Amino acid sequence: MDLVQRSLQHIWNPCSQMKDYETYPLLVIKKAYGPYIELENGQKLIDALSSWWCHALGHGHPKLKAALLEQVEKFQHVIFADTTYEAIIKLSEKLASMTKTLKHMAFASDGSCAVEIAMKMSLHARYLLGDKQRSKFMALENAYHGETGLALSVSDVGRFRKPYEAGLLPQIFLKGVPYVSDVNDPLWHDCSAVWPDLEAQLNQHATTLTAFLVEPIVQGSAGMLIYSQDFLKRLRAWTHAHNVHLIADEIMTGLGRTGLPLACQHAGIEPDFICLSKGLTSGFIPLSVTLTNTKIYELFYDDYEQGKTFFYSHTHSGNALGAAVALACLETIEEENIYQRIQDNAAFMKDLMLEIATTTQQLTNVRHIGSIVAADLINPKKIPRFGHKIFQEALKLGAFLRPLGNTLYWLPPLNIEPEVLTELKQITTTAILNAR
Ligand SMILES: Cc1ncc(COP(=O)(O)O)c(C=O)c1O
Repeated sequence: MDLVQRSLQHIWNPCSQMKDYETYPLLVIKKAYGPYIELENGQKLIDALSSWWCHALGHGHPKLKAALLEQVEKFQHVIFADTTYEAIIKLSEKLASMTKTLKHMAFASDGSCAVEIAMKMSLHARYLLGDKQRSKFMALENAYHGETGLALSVSDVGRFRKPYEAGLLPQIFLKGVPYVSDVNDPLWHDCSAVWPDLEAQLNQHATTLTAFLVEPIVQGSAGMLIYSQDFLKRLRAWTHAHNVHLIADEIMTGLGRTGLPLACQHAGIEPDFICLSKGLTSGFIPLSVTLTNTKIYELFYDDYEQGKTFFYSHTHSGNALGAAVALACLETIEEENIYQRIQDNAAFMKDLMLEIATTTQQLTNVRHIGSIVAADLINPKKIPRFGHKIFQEALKLGAFLRPLGNTLYWLPPLNIEPEVLTELKQITTTAILNAR
């Protein structure tokens, strides 16, 4: 039996209709390096999505590999209650220096857990304050915050939540988000025309919300939808004015993806919580972190007998391999001037996607920020699963380019070279032309 058959006998792959693999066999990975994934048959694919948006510095960056191996020699993971160690202290100092106010942080393993921790801290804070009225969460239409219970409750992506509706919290989503195509869109700077309607929706929940959740500036899973920084600024001011916590889920956007270290910085705001994961270890080890401010932290800080402890106890909280790699990752981002490289590539990425749109006439609504470029597919012949067909064509040509429904996008490693982007443009163009 070959590897594919053996895999299919037992393994249920993520985000997959397993029957598809009767027609489109699984790809067997041999190795991965930089922006490339190499298959067992020797074929090389450009990883246009940074493997679900986490390989910020590409696959197998040597500095991260060295940090991992060094930590493996010392210890891999030790219970993180009652203990600490140098690498995670240095990491926390670096993360704390990213904002003026978010100086306290709790570590977990994946993005959904970081969101759960922020939501629980917010609710728990109300409990400690005896504020029984504030128990609800609100999020943006088209939001995606993960797939565990609380995180899924604040996600507005139908295919992910519908079957579980009966077990989720009631939905409250803000409609009419002012989406933009890029930072030159007038709405980016000024959304005053639409704000009154948004504010009216918010006001209906002003006294019952504990927290509002956002993916700041870009909603990834909804199809790389970019929205006005002015809206985020106004939303922050509204949450301040109404004593509602703001949770910024920077799991996809954090650490450079939108061109700034944090996407919140586009709006010049600091939320009450920030969740980071994905790029934090450049995909080496699952690690996430929830940052919060001193006001929240101090609510929980008291004699044990007062019963105020925040009892989160994810087994891999503070995992040493993750912390060592994350520290190396943040150091490398500085040393290799990654934020500048994102700015340098940004306009180029957009121009390439616009060229594809012109050549193929199959793309519309090209949108772009930092190291993300996306467009909607035009499908006049109503080809079934057009995006999936393009994905299959791109695989033949040498790129892993898995559209999100009707959205074709690139979210490559932040340090990708322009020549690789040019190759990706050629592959994307031909894949679209072959698929139609
Ligand atoms: C914005 C956002 N939040 C949360 C998550 C969930 O993270 P994880 O899949 O690591 O649980 C994701 C994953 O794609 C995400 O993009």
